[in-house]
Amino acid sequence: MHSKIRLAFEKMVGCSNIITQDLNNYNRDWMNKYVGQSQLVLTPQTSEHVSQILKYCNQNQLKVVPQSGNTGLVGGSVPINDEIVISMRKMNKIYEFDQNSAIITSESGVILQNLNDYLFEYKYQMPWDLGARGSCLLGGNISTNAGGLNVVKHGLLRNYIMGLEVVLPNGKILNLMNKNRKDNTGTDLKQLFIGSEGTLGIITKANVLCIPIPQEKKVFFLELQSFQDVIKVLQKVKKNEQVLAFEFMEGRILKKNKNRHSQNTLPFQFDDNKYYVLIEIAGQQLNVDQFSIEMMEFTQEIIINQNEKEAQFLWKLREEIAESMGKMGYVLKYDVSIPPDKFEWLVNQVYPQREGPFHVYYGHVGDGNVHINIVFESLEHLHKEEDKIELKLFGLVKSLGGSISAEHGIGQHKRKYMELQKGKDVLECLYSIKKLFDPNSIMNPNKLL
Ligand code: FAD
Ligand code: MLT
Ligand code: ZN
Repeated sequence: MHSKIRLAFEKMVGCSNIITQDLNNYNRDWMNKYVGQSQLVLTPQTSEHVSQILKYCNQNQLKVVPQSGNTGLVGGSVPINDEIVISMRKMNKIYEFDQNSAIITSESGVILQNLNDYLFEYKYQMPWDLGARGSCLLGGNISTNAGGLNVVKHGLLRNYIMGLEVVLPNGKILNLMNKNRKDNTGTDLKQLFIGSEGTLGIITKANVLCIPIPQEKKVFFLELQSFQDVIKVLQKVKKNEQVLAFEFMEGRILKKNKNRHSQNTLPFQFDDNKYYVLIEIAGQQLNVDQFSIEMMEFTQEIIINQNEKEAQFLWKLREEIAESMGKMGYVLKYDVSIPPDKFEWLVNQVYPQREGPFHVYYGHVGDGNVHINIVFESLEHLHKEEDKIELKLFGLVKSLGGSISAEHGIGQHKRKYMELQKGKDVLECLYSIKKLFDPNSIMNPNKLL
């Protein structure tokens, strides 16, 4: 790196917030699929730091990548070339929780789990939850409009963001902070930054509406004979307001993962050809017996947790799928939205008779969001197959009126399919917005757009 540039950053943020060695963790994504070449990571500690960094980068045409927990699954948080990584980890102050409005005010670099730990004493929690909760940061969640495990009951993250502070590429600190539940004063500018994957500015603070921790919870783990049965159960419980999560897993992945657990802790002898559903209900005075009877219409094979440890274990069976697939090789991951009753059909279209490389589908059936993961033994092999699979898969998703990304976003991975998803007119609008905020294209280049 040019010594003049280094000196300029030293003046802005101090030597302790500049990293130039051992950058592997910043250059490589969670799946080991995308590797960048950054020579410089900056770790701002204040919004003013972020402002000075962006202003300087903008004036000198230096490209930047905002990075939070780096758990993103589409290569959005890692550089492609030698962009400067702006790691938000040190902006981790929680300011306050207002018990009257149930709004938390925080810097954007706080780990999701830490926000929940902070809220615990007030008997509140964050309104979204995902497997990466121990590593992902608030700003990363907001920038991806993260989905997750409770969308079926609570809806999407963007509905809970009451206010934001965003630093624009020209260094301006845009104050969109707001602690009012209701604010109907024209165009809601902050929405542009939610889900824009670091392409318009850097989110530095947020006000988030929190939800009360439910008084009771119960997890049901069901073994079903067919995917049709999964849909029948979904139809049955869809109207039930106490359903917090409705997750689906194929037998073939649970069986493969069984060695991760001692035999006597497993709820079933998992079967390759069976279908498994995890349903969590939450609320006050849960009618567990009634719910169990309703589930017995579909199967006798039901596990209901008796304590918190058992609930965690049942959830682990679902949440460990992402990590376990990564251990098998290089994974092509998809997170499409389609009508739930088409999940099995879609997979069978891509891999008739389920032949081909080892692949599974699982996910948030309750939200119409299926994950398809395909494992390859090398990155070369994965790249050779990628285009072929995507042309077919995304073509089918589009024909069903679905979305090529239900929750993980676009990043580097799906950028070339944006026109297929959005159409020319919408894409043109998005490019105009990008140009307005970031005329020099310094923000997260070659991601999303
Ligand atoms: P990063 O990965 O660091 O960044 C994500 C994107 O946001 C990048 O484009 C980055 O440039 C941008 N960005 C980051 N911080 C900022 C900021 N402060 N300002 C502007 N732009 C910024 N996702 C789901 O939606 N649902 C799930 O259920 C889910 N489960 C997961 C489970 C596992 C085990 C893993 C590894 C990932 C999972 N993900 C899931 C994906 C990922 O965790 C989410 O996308 C998460 O929101 C990313 O947060 P992060 O802090 O890691 O952000
Ligand atoms: C999940 O639902 O487990 C996450 O979105 C991660 C994944 O797709 O594997
Ligand atoms: Zn998911």
